[in-house]
Amino acid sequence: MCEQPKAADLLEWYDRHARAMPWRVGPADRQAGVLPDPYRVWLSEIMLQQTTVAAVKDYFLRFTARWPTVQDLAAAKDADVMGEWAGLGYYARARNLLKCARLVAQDHQGQFPRHYDDLLKLPGIGPYTAGAVSAIAFDQPSTVVDGNVERVMARVYDVHTPLPVAKPELTQLAAELTPSKRPGDYAQAVMDLGATICTPKNPACGICPWRTPCQGRANGTATELPKKTPK
Ligand code: ADE
Repeated sequence: MCEQPKAADLLEWYDRHARAMPWRVGPADRQAGVLPDPYRVWLSEIMLQQTTVAAVKDYFLRFTARWPTVQDLAAAKDADVMGEWAGLGYYARARNLLKCARLVAQDHQGQFPRHYDDLLKLPGIGPYTAGAVSAIAFDQPSTVVDGNVERVMARVYDVHTPLPVAKPELTQLAAELTPSKRPGDYAQAVMDLGATICTPKNPACGICPWRTPCQGRANGTATELPKKTPK
């Protein structure tokens, strides 16, 4: 039986190497169990759909300076929000953002729901975002699967089934690895691992916290994974 990847090893790595982002809490707070503001987590996750972290940061800072709470955003004029969003693209996101903020302000007393199923009912929140917000802002043990997570799972478990067929299998593997303690940090740790170490090209396997259990590394297949069905 080969060694299984452990969530604890990844969390230990995250405690030392987490990327600083304006919607995350700092290392001292994180270790004290302080969770980030759900409004900020939600806003960042909506902005990060289809947009890179580097491109999102300045928009996020301008939005939160102008509208620090979901109630502030709910009271904003449509044209002001669309104006601040200009340049981020995919404008349906901005329209749903406002719809969602107004619903949360009016029907939920300004509190984002903490559970996946309730988040999923809100405009602009699909399975990925519901999982990310429930895990990151509320420490619910939701599994969060984006492209980074798919790549990490395919490599660690040496899955050769091509995407998109492999998606349910990779989601299942990701779910089995999700810890009940610190699932939000864990979700972001897998994203950071995929963005900084388990990169599409030239992964830095030598310094990866999962280098020992990684089956793709052991079999020399990591850089070929995940496989994709040709378009
Ligand atoms: N991409 C989407 N959400 C993210 C997050 N919370 N941290 C890093 N990358 C992300």
